[in-house]
This record gives sequence, C-alpha cells and structure tokens, in this order.
Amino acid sequence: MLEAMYKAQVGDDVFGEDPTVKELETRAAAMFGMEAALYSPSGTMSNQIAIKAHTQPGDEVICDFSSHVYQYEGGGIAFNSGASVQLLQGSLGRITAAQVEAAINPDDVHKPHTSLVSLENTANRGGGSCYDIREIEGIRRVCDENKLKLHLDGARLFNALVAKNESPKDHGKLFHSISFCLNKGLGCPIGSLLVGNKEYIRKARRIRKVFGGGMRQAGYMAATGLYALDHHIERLKEDHEHAKKIAGELCQKKYVGEILPVETNIIIFEIKGSKSPAQFIDDLKKENIYTLTMSSTQVRMVLHLGVTREMVEVVRKVIKGIE
Ligand SMILES: Cc1ncc(COP(=O)(O)O)c(C=O)c1O
Repeated sequence: MLEAMYKAQVGDDVFGEDPTVKELETRAAAMFGMEAALYSPSGTMSNQIAIKAHTQPGDEVICDFSSHVYQYEGGGIAFNSGASVQLLQGSLGRITAAQVEAAINPDDVHKPHTSLVSLENTANRGGGSCYDIREIEGIRRVCDENKLKLHLDGARLFNALVAKNESPKDHGKLFHSISFCLNKGLGCPIGSLLVGNKEYIRKARRIRKVFGGGMRQAGYMAATGLYALDHHIERLKEDHEHAKKIAGELCQKKYVGEILPVETNIIIFEIKGSKSPAQFIDDLKKENIYTLTMSSTQVRMVLHLGVTREMVEVVRKVIKGIE
C-alpha cells in the first residue's frame, strides 16, 4: 500500500485534476453500477454530505435508534442539515419495511416532512449484523411509494457482501446513495466514498467543499483505496473466521453473558456477575489487546487486517486464562 502511495500520480483535486482520485471515484461508481462517486476523508463526512444532499431543513430522517448517523456523528443531522430524526427500535440495528411505512409522517403542517430513510449495513451496534437483501427491497418499495430517498451507511458494506456472497451492484440498484469506508476492514489510513447519480454527486461535491473536505494532492491517499479494492476485499472472510473463533472462546466463560450473533468482524458481548466490563477490558489491555465498552454491560471487539491468525491465537489463550 505504501508503494502504491509513492507511485501515485497526483494533481489538485479541488480543480478536478488529480488522476488517482478520479480513477478511484470512477472505479467505485462502476463497482456499484452507479453514475458517479465522491472521495471524502471519512465515513462521517460521506454520511453527513449524503444526508445534506437528500434533505431540506425541517425534513425528517428515518433510521434505527442505534445508527451511527444518529449516535456517533456529533448530532450532525441537526447541525449540518437542520433535519429531525424518527428513531426506530430495530433488531440488531436493522429496521423493516413495515416499521418504515408506519413511521412516515402524514402531509400535515404540524409534522416534519419525511424525506429520507437511512440504513446501516453491517450494523455496528448490532454486532456487525447484515441485512437480508429482500428486506432492503421491501424498504425501497416503501420509499418509492412515498417519494422518499434511501441512503445506505455502508461503512462496512464489503464485510456484508463477503458474508452474504452478494455483489456491490446488488446493492447499488436499491439505494439512491451509498457511503462505504476504505479506512476500516479494507485497511486504508483514511477515506470513504459516496456513490450516486451524476446530479446527486455534483451537489454532494459542492457540500464537501462547504464542509472543508476539498483536498488537493489527495491522490496519495486515493492510491491506498485503489490498492485496498484490489487486494483487501476477499480477505475480509478471514476476519469473520477470526471473530467466530474468539466468540467460541468467550462463550465458554461464566462471566460472559449474551454474545450478539457473530456474522462478520465484530463481536459484542455482555460481561456479567462480579466482573465488570472495565475490569475485563483492563485484563486484556495488560496483554496488549485493545477493546471498547459498548454500553454499561457490553464490550466490543473488532477484527481487521492488522490482526493476524497468530494474534487471534494469543487472544484466545489470554481469554482462556482470565477467570
Ligand atoms: C457504521 C459506521 N458508519 C460510519 C462510520 C464513520 O466512519 P469514520 O470513522 O471514517 O468517520 C463508522 C465508524 O466507526 C461506523 O461504524
């Protein structure tokens, strides 16, 4: 990846003159069967641009209560778009077509105007859970019937595609916009792409500039994205196998309660009894294993290309030894 960065041809991308950024955007759009793409520094910026480009102030966005766009983007929907949210109680971060339909506001001056539905796949707080594509088809039907736009926060979409054996085009035809991250399991230092139709991406590019996301010789970074799309997609299944192995160890410990179903590279599990999540996290930290609290009772582990097979064996051994 570093070699790809050294060799990158660059130019000023704010003027549309960086050939490597253009190549990455063209490749991303083609992968999803979309017309155009926009490169941004982060998944948060891509999502926030996406929402701003789909909504007007006073609109309402429907999403699951645990969505990253609502929980972890600093109130960006309100701050950047002046929109309100309708939060749904989904299951493992996934919502249904019936829930969406029931949440659409009537055409009533008292109510915010529902204009956008945002899904997350895989769902971070759902333990890396994946949507069934038929559910997404149902949600898109509801959106079409009610003139709503459908956005996907696909920060870890490639994990879902590998786990479900689906293609980017299967999803490209179901959404008006998709953001996906290069900086997570795909292993880039920064970067996210937003794909959509030409007109939408033209609007999104203006918003990126307003957000301060216009970049100059960004081709050095875009080269990491091209490298990752060539080399780091298929290997995501190793991360999924690693996650299952670690979950297999965790489920044998009496201080571990519910483990959310492990479908991809995330393990979210409950710590119960006399041990607290903070104590467990400290025990692991002493062995250089870094994890995160997800709630007062839950811990999250994430697997990625920096965690090798050998490291996974060490993690299993350490967990075995913690009483
Ligand atoms: C589901 C989801 N969406 C978006 C993001 C934002 O990505 P970034 O950290 O690049 O802003 C994350 C980051 O963890 C995420 O988990």
